[in-house]
Amino acid sequence: MAFKIGLLGFGTVGSGTVQILQNPTLRHPLLHDITLHRVGVRSLDKPRPIELAPDLLTTDLEAIVTDPEVDVVVELIGGLEPARSLILKAIAHKKHVVTANKAVIARYSDEIFDAANAAGVYVMIEAAVAGGIPVIQPLRQALSVNRLHRVTGIINGTTNYILTRMQREGADFTDVLADAQALGYAEADPTADVDGLDAADKIAILAALAFGGRVNLTEVYCEGIRNVTASDIAYAEDLGFVIKLLATAQRDIPDDAAPGTTDRLQVRVHPTLLPKDHPLASVNDVFNAVLIEGDPIGQVMFFGPGAGMGPTASAVVSDIQTIAAALKSAAAAPTSLNPLMACIHEHYCT
Ligand code: HSE
Repeated sequence: MAFKIGLLGFGTVGSGTVQILQNPTLRHPLLHDITLHRVGVRSLDKPRPIELAPDLLTTDLEAIVTDPEVDVVVELIGGLEPARSLILKAIAHKKHVVTANKAVIARYSDEIFDAANAAGVYVMIEAAVAGGIPVIQPLRQALSVNRLHRVTGIINGTTNYILTRMQREGADFTDVLADAQALGYAEADPTADVDGLDAADKIAILAALAFGGRVNLTEVYCEGIRNVTASDIAYAEDLGFVIKLLATAQRDIPDDAAPGTTDRLQVRVHPTLLPKDHPLASVNDVFNAVLIEGDPIGQVMFFGPGAGMGPTASAVVSDIQTIAAALKSAAAAPTSLNPLMACIHEHYCT
């Protein structure tokens, strides 16, 4: 069974994705059936980090999402539009979708997953949160048997990299930001990183998965790291703390509250003083970590590279592979319940 990929966007993560798909030494057996069919770019003339056959490239992104030969659309252009419309159009044309677009998923998950459910296609979002760390899949599956209380994360690599360098070197915020951009961690507009908006999108997605429903982003308290100075960090250090940009989602009604009490979900992003022995305090550089607390599991922490070409591309390709595996098993047993679809439906469509 062969699968054809239509890739939208050939920037940092798009290039990393193509590198994995084209690297025979990295290819999982399931990926052998996957071919890159078209790659949509903004300009054909731009120099690219890797060579592609010129006939793969096109600036007509609509043609990719409507191409009858494309099975899976991989959306890596970022931003709200045209990404949202292209995802919806791909779904309407019965394409499965893999996206790293946290901004779109945080705002339009209902619309997108309703459309996907109606069309009977997969929408996979592992790369949208915490780069290379597999956290979406565990929340959807292994952890979903728990009653979760709190999700706390360092989920923006750029700001964690900046804070770490400020702490280590007493460096100035703006100098370090330029390095984060050069390393391919920061968003095209780094305001989204620095002001906490990228982390807010990601924690809204994690909260929806952990607690059900959808988080209204206007109700998320959001403060970035722009006002954190090198001397704040030095004072914190003297007192035995580090400063981290934490994103938190927690229920604020105890489990033993009177019957009928409605859980309230608090979702917030802000610089936080963490004691040095806190599990998240030693998460440095571009690394991300997500600490999940619930019953009966207790505490689980996911740790890994949270941004950058290779790690994020790893999450993208793992989603492509998951779709390939699900389609293969559905083809082998067409009447069986599709577990992934059921799970997506449960979390996003009820
Ligand atoms: N700009 C994002 C970050 C990229 O720094 O975490 C990964 O989502």
